[in-house]
Formats: sequence, C-alpha cells, structure tokens
Amino acid sequence: MANVIVVGAQFGDEGKAKVTDLLAKNADLVVRYQGGCNAGHTVVVNGETYKFHLIPSGILYPKSICILGPGMVIDPKALVNEIKSLEDRGHNLNGLKISGSAHVTLPYHLMIDAAEEDSRGDMKIGTTKRGIGPTYADKCARTGIRMEDILDKNVFNNKLAWIVPRKNVILERLYELTPLSVEAILEEYYELGQKLKKYVCDTSSVIFNSVNDRKNILFEGAQGTLLDLDHGSYPYVTSSSPSAGGACVGAGIGPTIIDRVIGVAKAYMTRVGEGTFPTEQFGEVGENLRQTGKAWAEVGVTTGRPRRCGWFDCVLGRYSVRINGLDCLAITKLDVLDEFDTIKVCVAYKDKTTNKIYEDLPSIGSQFQQMEPVYESFSGWNKSTANVTSFKDLPENARKYLNFLSQKLEIPIVIVSVGPKRDQTIVIEDPIHGPKRVLTKAL
Ligand code: IMP
Repeated sequence: MANVIVVGAQFGDEGKAKVTDLLAKNADLVVRYQGGCNAGHTVVVNGETYKFHLIPSGILYPKSICILGPGMVIDPKALVNEIKSLEDRGHNLNGLKISGSAHVTLPYHLMIDAAEEDSRGDMKIGTTKRGIGPTYADKCARTGIRMEDILDKNVFNNKLAWIVPRKNVILERLYELTPLSVEAILEEYYELGQKLKKYVCDTSSVIFNSVNDRKNILFEGAQGTLLDLDHGSYPYVTSSSPSAGGACVGAGIGPTIIDRVIGVAKAYMTRVGEGTFPTEQFGEVGENLRQTGKAWAEVGVTTGRPRRCGWFDCVLGRYSVRINGLDCLAITKLDVLDEFDTIKVCVAYKDKTTNKIYEDLPSIGSQFQQMEPVYESFSGWNKSTANVTSFKDLPENARKYLNFLSQKLEIPIVIVSVGPKRDQTIVIEDPIHGPKRVLTKAL
C-alpha cells in the first residue's frame, strides 16, 4: 500500500489528470483536497474526452472511491451537472463521497467574484469567476455555509437569513447589482443539496479507515504550486493550498500517513490569468507552443482562455521541489516540443536592478517581479515522440533535455507523457514504490 500526493509543480494545467488517471488504476481512494470548479482536468480514454472540474478523474475506474474533501469549495449546481453528465455516459457514481465540511459556493460568491474582478482594473487577478476567492473568504471569516448545512432546511435558512442581507449591501451599494432573495437561494440550493445528500459523509474517517486497512490512496491536487495562497506568486494565486502540505489539512489526515509526493510539470510552461511569468514568450515561440498543443489545445479547460506559454523554468522547478518535498517528477506534453529547432530552459534569474544571479528563488514576493531569466539553449529533436513507449527510444536530444531538467531540479523524472491518450505514457521508474528522494548535497 502507498499513500501518494500528486501536485502541480508549476502554474496549474500541468496535465495532472493524465498522471492521476494513470496512478488511479491501482488506487482504492482518490481524494481531492482543495479548490473547486476553477479546476479543469482533461482525460482521454478510448478516444473519449472527459473534462472534470470537481470530481476526481479516478471516477473513471469503477472500483475507486472518489472523495471531495473538507478543504474543497463546492458549487452544488456545477457538481450536480458533472454527476449527471457522467451518469449520462454510463458511469457509476456509487464511489463518490463528499465531505459535509466542504464549503458551498452560493450565487453571491459568483456575483462578488465577477464584480470584484471587473472593478480591479490594472490590479485584476484574472480569476476563473467561479466564486472561489469569495467562498474561501467566507470560510476564513467564519461566515461560510457548508455542505452539511444545506441538507437541513432550518439550519440553511437561518444561516442565509443572516448572511444574504449583508451580501446584498455589497451587491447593491458597492457594485450596483440586484439584491438576492433568501427564499430563492434556499429553494434552489436545498433541492440541489437533496440530490447530493446520499454522497455526503465524514470523509476524513473514510480515509482513516482505508489507511488502517492498508489501502492505496491518491491525493489529487488541483491548480499548481505557484498558485498556492501562501507559497505562490501572491496576489496572483488561487485562494487554497494546492501544494503538498495542503493535502493533509484539506483531506483531514495527518502528515505521517503520506509515503510519497509526485510533482507534475509540463516540458515547457503555461499560465492562465495575470501575474509574473518570467519565461513567457510573446512572439512566434509563444504562439507555436500554444498552437502545437494540437490535441492538447492550450486553452483553459474551465474558462476557454488562451494559456500564456513559455520555456521551462528550473528556478521555479527547484522552488516547487522545496515547497512540496517532491520525491519525483512526471513531465507532460514532451511531444509539444517535437518540432522546435531550439529549446530554451531558464537555469537562473538575474535581478534586473542589482544584476545579481540566483539559481534558487530568493523570494516569491515583490522581488520575483524583477527577475529576468538566464537561458541555456538545447538543440531540438525534430522527430515525433507521440508513439514512443520507452525512455531509451526517445530521440537522443529529448533524453538529453529530460536528463538536464532532472539534474537541475535534483530529482528523478519517473513518467514522461507524449500525448493526451492513456497509452502515450512512458514510465521510467515505478512512481509509487521508488526510493524516497535523498538529499543530494553533502553536509
Ligand atoms: P481563482 O482560483 O478562480 O480565484 O483564480 C485565481 C488564479 O488562479 C487565476 O490566475 C486563475 O487563472 C488561476 N487558476 C485557477 N484555477 C486554475 C486551474 O485549474 N488551472 C490554471 N490556473 C488556474
């Protein structure tokens, strides 16, 4: 048995669903621990494309139990639609379990997210407008409404009766929007709650019992390390903790049960929304990366926005190894680089004001904004990798490129993905049972 966390090692959209889908095959439980329907995970199985926003992609394996943990924020409307669309495609949702402690995204969260974003002007974050920030803000302010609350009409009514007039002050006076009615929200969301009731339980005890039964548990992170509320490029972050530490709090388990942390990174880099992105490419290179995404299509799964594209950034990679305590790395979308004559990698940063060079990020705060990438160039391989099934059969330059990333990040690359389909995956080492990463620097 092994309990494994899979995290995004970049700005989100690393192709985590492809990796969790692969690992979920042998998992008894797949647990999401943070975020909400801002996430968009795409999996291609037998030629069919599935897009997940709330439900872990492990649901495609009929035997696995899929948990939406207490650290998540859940839009019940989106969840009911996602359940229905999976059922319509013949999938069985018997293994779905939702924490009663997960917070609920309600109409005022969606309205405030959109209105706040629109009012920010140059300071906008580029949120997905799925109400994520305002739902987590209510959770922290202890004014949130949880899944268990919407199942009891009296409790739900009492909570709404207090909060909605307060939200209406913001909606009407600050944003000149139409106020909301307690009754309308109560009716609609109580009904949605009733549809979800059979899935709601104490998910922490389900996980704990599974640990005791020596089951395999996969903790599936959404978004990425650089979008982490505490460790990301604040304020251009999401409002939850996608990094590995977040898995314990967000799932309701202790850190002692975690065996392994696997990071997922693209062979290049993308970002959706605003915020510093040192290796971003604006001209032909950026457009080629975006367009060569072909089957992958570099647009956000949730919002359809084009992703900003750039070269792999080892400084951020090393930061991600540190923040998450990564044991190993899965590299996705290597095939997107197949036709590039030259591939660049950021190996260090130069501070634009002091000219000082950093191999490790000095700070993710304001200093991050004044960093300029220092690149090393690699010759491309100009050959399709889409049907390669083993590391040794990759073109020599592709192997050199991957070995370089592994050396720079001081971490083994155990999986390489060369296309969106399940079988377009090269497993170099057992990602779950390999050795724990040892510190490579001597004392
Ligand atoms: P929010 O999570 O909707 O509040 O958005 C905050 C920031 O995180 C924005 O820059 C979004 O584009 C980004 N973001 C949120 N979810 C994802 C995701 O699943 N992939 C990539 N970026 C995301």
